[in-house]
Amino acid sequence: MKQTKAGVVQIILVSSLCGSTVYAQNAVDLGKMEYESSCASCHGTAAKGDGALQKYLVKAPSDLTTLTKRNGGVFPSQRVWATVDGRTDTEIGPHGAREMPVWGQLYRTDNTPPSEHSTSKRIGALVEYLSRLQER
Ligand code: HEC
Repeated sequence: MKQTKAGVVQIILVSSLCGSTVYAQNAVDLGKMEYESSCASCHGTAAKGDGALQKYLVKAPSDLTTLTKRNGGVFPSQRVWATVDGRTDTEIGPHGAREMPVWGQLYRTDNTPPSEHSTSKRIGALVEYLSRLQER
């Protein structure tokens, strides 16, 4: 009986610890969560441009771990922000539209009423997350 009680206490302790760890990670790493739900399907979990949808696209999704390397050693945060947001992008692709979704529009209309503040927060978290994935 005594042993069972100790076992139950142990289980409760372990599960509450696991729960709080998961919660802490989710609460802190908004950028990673956002990346995994919105971007990994094309750009890949490790952001190397090898996501599951890659084979259905005309243009290959970019390797997002070499943004700094391809920009002379400086992370191009403004350009990344503009590409992800997409609302100011004037580049017209071969089919009249770019393949990269316009996240600024999607994030804005995700909210009721549409909110610019939460749009910036989500894009900002993503840009920050990508800056941490850069190859040295
Ligand atoms: C439907 C597939 C798809 C999804 C989902 C997607 N992308 Fe892209 N992305 C692309 C493609 C394809 C390109 C290559 C450029 C183009 O299409 O003009 C690209 C290009 C980019 C670039 C420019 C890279 C460079 O080399 O300058 C960035 C930054 C980027 N994506 C970030 C993201 C982020 C962040 C997300 C999630 C919010 C995301 N992408 C989701 C397809 C996707």
